[in-house]
Formats: sequence, C-alpha cells, structure tokens
Amino acid sequence: GHGSSHVFVILGASGDLAKKKIYPTLWWLYRDGLLPKKTSFIGYARSKMTVADIRNKTEPFMKVQKGEESKLEEFFKLNQYIAGSYDKTEGFAALNKAIEQKGGPNRLFYLALPPSVYEQVTLNLKAVCMSKGNDTWTRIIVEKPFGRDLESSNHLSSHLAALFKEEELYRIDHYLGKEMVQNLMVLRFGNRIFSPIWNRESIASVVISFKEPFGTQGRGGYFDEFGIIRDVMQNHLLQILSLVAMEKPPSTGAEDIRNEKVKVLKSIPPVLLKNVVLGQYVGKKDGKGDETQGYLDDPTVPKGSVTPTFATSVLFVKNERWDGVPFILRCGKALNERKAEVRIQFQDVPGDIFQEGEVKRNELVIRVQPDEAVYMKMMMKTPGMSIGCEESELDLTYDNRYKGVKMPDAYERLIMDVFMGSQIHFVRSDELYEAWRIFTPLLKQIEKEKPKPIPYVYGSRGPQESDALLRKNSFHYTGTY
Ligand code: BG6
Repeated sequence: GHGSSHVFVILGASGDLAKKKIYPTLWWLYRDGLLPKKTSFIGYARSKMTVADIRNKTEPFMKVQKGEESKLEEFFKLNQYIAGSYDKTEGFAALNKAIEQKGGPNRLFYLALPPSVYEQVTLNLKAVCMSKGNDTWTRIIVEKPFGRDLESSNHLSSHLAALFKEEELYRIDHYLGKEMVQNLMVLRFGNRIFSPIWNRESIASVVISFKEPFGTQGRGGYFDEFGIIRDVMQNHLLQILSLVAMEKPPSTGAEDIRNEKVKVLKSIPPVLLKNVVLGQYVGKKDGKGDETQGYLDDPTVPKGSVTPTFATSVLFVKNERWDGVPFILRCGKALNERKAEVRIQFQDVPGDIFQEGEVKRNELVIRVQPDEAVYMKMMMKTPGMSIGCEESELDLTYDNRYKGVKMPDAYERLIMDVFMGSQIHFVRSDELYEAWRIFTPLLKQIEKEKPKPIPYVYGSRGPQESDALLRKNSFHYTGTY
C-alpha cells in the first residue's frame, strides 16, 4: 500500500562515490529482489546530466552478468535525475516535488558529497524535503570525513543534531558492514571457550592491521588533507578495536551494543606520539621496468608533504579487563599485500617444559579480507617419529567451510540496514566523539611539529621501526603477519 513506497535520493550523484559504490550497490540490491517493492531512485547534483549519462559512468562498476540486461533496464527506468544547486532552496523544492510525485512517503538521503556542502545541503533537506505524516520516515546517510578533529567533528555533530534526531542519522563506517567484523560479536559471545581467556591474564597483545597494495591513485589531493590516521585508523581500525575489547552488551540491540562500544572507548587515553610510527611510501626505481610512483610523485600531492601514508599506534584500554595490554593499530597504503586482520596473541605458556624457544605463543587470527577466515595458531607434536613440537593451525577458512555462500559487499548490507531501520552497524555521535578525542592531540601535534615520516618502498612491508614498536609492545613476530 501507500505506506510501503520508498525513494532513495543520492546527493552528489555525479561524483566518484555515487558512480563506484552507491549506484552499483543499489543495482545489486534491486537485482537480488532485496529492496522493498515500490522503491525508486533520484540522483541530485549540480551538473546538467541525464540518467543515461549516469548509466554510462556507473555501468562499468555494476558487474552486470549475461541475462540481467532487462532487469538493468527496469532498474534505470526507476531512476530519475535532477540538477540543482546545493545552497539554494529551489533545487530542493524541485527534488521534493519529484519525491512526492513518486508517492514516496519514506525517504532515504545518501550524502555522497564533499564535506564543504554538508551544512547547506542538510539545512535545505530539513527545510524542504522531509517526509510528512505520522507513519513515514526520513533517514540521512552520512559518509566520512566527519570533520578532521574533535572540534570540527563536534561542530558538524551539533549542526546535524539541531536538524535531525539521532534515529534519523546513519553514519557509515563501511568496515562495520564486513562479514568478519560482524562475526566478532558471535565469536566472542556465542562461544564458551573465549570469555575466560579474553583479558589481561591471557592475552599479551592485539594487533589490528589494514594493508593495501596500492597508493593514492590520483586521490592524493583528498588524501593529503587527511592522512592515513584519519582515513583508516581513527575510524575502521578503532571500530574493530571497540568490538574486540568491549564488554558483553545486555542484548544485541543497537543501543545496548553502542553503549558498550562507547564505554570501552572512554577507557582509552589519547594516543601519544612516542607510541606511534609514521611512514610515507617512496617509488621503487630499480631500472628493471617495474617502477612505481612514490607518494610525492603524485601530481595532486603538494610538494614536500609530510602526510603519513602508513601509521602504527599503540593504544591502551585502562580498565580492569585490559590494563597494560597493548592494542596495536597498523595501517598503510602501497604495501606488499591487501590484508585486514585482527591478531590476538596470547601470553607465553607458564612453566614451559619444552626445549627453550620451541614453544611459540598461541594466536587467534580473524582475517577480515581477503579470504575471510578464523584460525588459531597452536603447538602440536610434530607428527610421526619425531618427538619435537611445531606450530600448526586450527583453520576455519570460509572458502572451504562455507563454499558457495555469497558474501554481500559491505555497502549492500549497510544500505539494507538503513531501509530496515537498524542502526547496529552505524556509528553513534558519542562513539564518534570518543574516536576523535583519542586521536586529536596526536593529530594536532603532528600538524604542529611536522615530524618527517619514515620512507618505505612501495610494495614493502612498511618501515622496520613499526616492527620494532610491535616487539617492544609484547607482540612476538611469527613470520606471517
Ligand atoms: C576507505 C578509505 O574508507 O577505505 C580508503 O578512505 C581505503 O583509503 C578504503 O582504500 C579501504 O576499504 P576496503 O573495503 O577496500 O578495505
């Protein structure tokens, strides 16, 4: 009936994010029949364009298969495009009229926009485009950057809070849409074996890593203003940390979970520069033809920039469970591989009776990507006649165990959640506040003192100083991280 129709509006429809992520995601959800019936789509941006222009831009990212062509036609028939400015109300009045013509009482607005226009756009949405009627809703999806430090983030937060209720705001951190990040709750709280050892008595250190095998790829202009700490560490890695370290929530409800995440973040003091290693990649010029560009070779990066493209930080959670356990966040671009994982290293075996140095620490690894897996490194007697011992694994690689299960993209899950009204996997404003509180003093100090990042070669494991920092913080290198 009337109550079930939805209009999904992409603000910034001509941009990169819309083209590469949002339109393709909407298409996959539509193709798989997951969206509510009677959902239609409106793109909005400043450029004069048509739906056909959008289609030309976005189709290369949609992975359309043979046999899906007519479905794709249907999808684009449900699309409309409106050109209008971000700072005047006329465009938004036209947008509102179009939404009403589609009969859409329920409205989703995706802000795929540069932060410089957030305030104007949200003011106009509030003034002109909100849904009317009691059993209808409006939901606003916001993307990072949520400011660039505590002050600017607080400013944006109060601006949004004056316009919308927290239940209307969906702050995306797409790592919360990843299978293995969502699995952390079940792994921790659905298994008896972990809870008694999930603390400072048994855990020596936790390393949460993000590695990417490519550099800024023309995105240098954007990246240089933020750097890897704001781009990945303060959001994606800290979100994972909070799920690894939080106490068990009283229920799986969004507020209960987010209360626990905030609580654990509150126990983390600001990161100190002495617990940080910063790096910046340089090109490889070996004269053999496989040369790579350094960060400073990117023409969109300002000359002499000291923006880090690699960072390792050690954080501490000052509570009864974790006091003294280093939580090491490590992330970098232009490294040797694509990998995101959580590595929980357990304490040495007390009263070890085996040959000195033979017994290695247990490790529980949660591999977020690629090839989702949970595995446990453990000691085994070397099989056969040998009497020695060796390190082996209990290995739950998803591709073997759950062969053929389709893993949705993070954006597919999260956009579905917005339709359903589930905020579990979205960042609440107080979480955001705590995340900035933890990193702002460090970011300010870096901005002021401009420490020179340590150069590392494109395609390497990053600066050796990072490994040294890990060793100093009770992480025993086992050769595979
Ligand atoms: C984004 C960062 O949030 O995450 C990018 O801005 C990074 O710099 C990306 O490349 C990584 O996401 P994923 O899902 O490919 O690991």
